[in-house]
Amino acid sequence: MKLFIDTAEVDDIRKYAFILDGVTTNPTLIMKSGRKFEDVIREITSIVDGPISAEVTSLASEEMVKQGIELSKIHRNVIIKVPCTVDGLKACRELTKKGIKVNVTLIFSANQALLAAKCGAFVVSPFIGRLDDIGQTGLDLVEEIVEIYKNYSFKTQVLVASVRNPIHVKAAARIGAHICTCPTNVIESMFRHSLTDAGLQKFMEDSKKVKK
Ligand code: G3P
Repeated sequence: MKLFIDTAEVDDIRKYAFILDGVTTNPTLIMKSGRKFEDVIREITSIVDGPISAEVTSLASEEMVKQGIELSKIHRNVIIKVPCTVDGLKACRELTKKGIKVNVTLIFSANQALLAAKCGAFVVSPFIGRLDDIGQTGLDLVEEIVEIYKNYSFKTQVLVASVRNPIHVKAAARIGAHICTCPTNVIESMFRHSLTDAGLQKFMEDSKKVKK
């Protein structure tokens, strides 16, 4: 499974670049960075050599296509995030025809993922944490999409998003999702285990007692 980071904080991206296959951003994450949209995306492309999702902010398909074309000029790795709406999927179809890769975002049902794949999406982003928040099991949706895409050999990849904890990541990998995008705190927690820390501390103490 490919591992992406879900942030617009370039220091975090730099810190974990050695294990990252790509980066996802959204307008909220860019707003939190306090920086200009294009500056952040451009800088991210210089840190990670993999797909970097940049989201359009218009609601009408024609505008989305125009914005998508402009964003794709920033760097060859920029992929265009469009929402799963009628206009968003129309834009997905148009951008894909032009050879521009699309991430269809805000996916909350298997049927939405099916439509996105039929419109040629490069990836779809099911938001699993937000489903968990309303009492539905987000990972069930990932299972459904992976199954449907396998049934029909769709090339669209499943990018698990809205990840809140390391259990989500492990489960996504077991289901066979292609990509999981994680906020920085989840990536950090994947490295850690209390027994690793305790074991290392003991080895360090004992290494000092080894006869010279
Ligand atoms: O990048 C989109 C997604 O991962 C957002 O996650 O935590 O705001 O639901 P969250």
